[in-house]
Formats: sequence, structure tokens, C-alpha cells
Amino acid sequence: MSYRVGYFVGSLSSTSINRILSKALIRLSPDELEFTEIPIRDLPLYSQDYDADYPPAARALKEAIAATQAVLFVTPEYNRSIPGGLKNAIDWASRPWGENSFDHIPAAVIGASVGSIGTAVAQQSLRGVLSFCNARQMTAPEAYIHFSPEVFSEDGSVSNPATEEFLRNFMSDFREHIQRVLTVLPR
Ligand code: FNR
Repeated sequence: MSYRVGYFVGSLSSTSINRILSKALIRLSPDELEFTEIPIRDLPLYSQDYDADYPPAARALKEAIAATQAVLFVTPEYNRSIPGGLKNAIDWASRPWGENSFDHIPAAVIGASVGSIGTAVAQQSLRGVLSFCNARQMTAPEAYIHFSPEVFSEDGSVSNPATEEFLRNFMSDFREHIQRVLTVLPR
């Protein structure tokens, strides 16, 4: 059984280490997962004033999530939280009231930083947001990735076997989580 996974990269940086991590995750994921990036770059800042008539970028966001069966968040930590651009995208997707795109969606969270705690605080913040949005999160394993350019190449290949195995297992567990959630909450 294959599953459609939409993934968010929380960084807008042209040299994003989290984008490299997303490439590694896709390389190492089970064949049954098909990935499509859900872009956040062109979204205006959310306001309730838009609720009656979403602009095209926000409609595209909601349509992209509706077309997926699960979502994966690959995010940096900014000032001990998630980047504003990612929070903005989540706010758009969660509205208008009663049309929350994340309701019951299988979700996983991961992130890389150059610092030693590997986005742990940002991920806790993101988990709180996703919890309110009623996403079905994979709560274990957790994955706090300390990024080193000696380990991760631009194309997403991973030179450290232990890191490679950890990421492969993370994605395999995510596939099982998706299957488990969709068995009771099909989309
Ligand atoms: C950071 N960085 C950072 N790192 C961290 O571990 N905890 C933090 O709270 C922050 N805060 C922070 C704020 C801002 C505004 C910036 C620009 C950066 C460093 C961050 O981990 C590093 O820049 C990563 O490279 C960001 O990920 P991307 O954009 O390369 O994917």
C-alpha cells in the first residue's frame, strides 16, 4: 500500500540544512511513501480578513494538503521556536474556522540544527501547535538532528551509517504510523 506524503520545509534559506535533511529522508524512506513538497514561500501573512475569500497561494496550500494522506514537517529552530513562515503556513491551513486542513491527518516532525540540541525546543513548540490543530502525530521516535556537512551531502546522501540507519528507521516508523492512523481515519 502506498501513501501520499506532503512535506513542509520550515526554512526559506537557499542554503537550508533542513532542505538537505528532507532530501535525505526521501532517499531513505520506504518505497511505499510518495513525496510532494507543500511550498510556504509565497503565502502572504495570514489575517482573518481573508477567511471569506482566500488568495490563490492559500487556496493552493489547502488543496495540496487535501491531496495528501500525511504530512511531514522538516524544520529549523528559530529563537527556540519554529520559523514565522512555517507558523504562518499552519495558520492559513488551519482556517477558515471549521475547515482545518490538519484535522486527523497523520503527521511527523523532525529538524536539523548546527547546535547540539537539534531543534528539540522548536519541535516541542510545533507539537503543541499541531496538537491544537488535531493532527495525529507520531510521538516516537523523536528525531533531533545535529547537522554536520561531513555527514550530509547536498544531494541528501548520508555518509555516517548510524545516522543513515536512524533516519531510515524514522521513516519506516512513519510509514507504519500512517498506516495505523489511516486504518481508522481513512483519507
Ligand atoms: C537560528 N539558529 C538557531 N539554532 C538553534 O539551534 N536554536 C535556535 O533557537 C536558533 N535560532 C535562530 C534564529 C534565527 C533567526 C536564525 C537565522 C538561526 C541557527 C539555525 O539552526 C541555523 O541557522 C540553521 O542553519 C537553520 O536551518 P536552515 O535554514 O539552514 O534549514
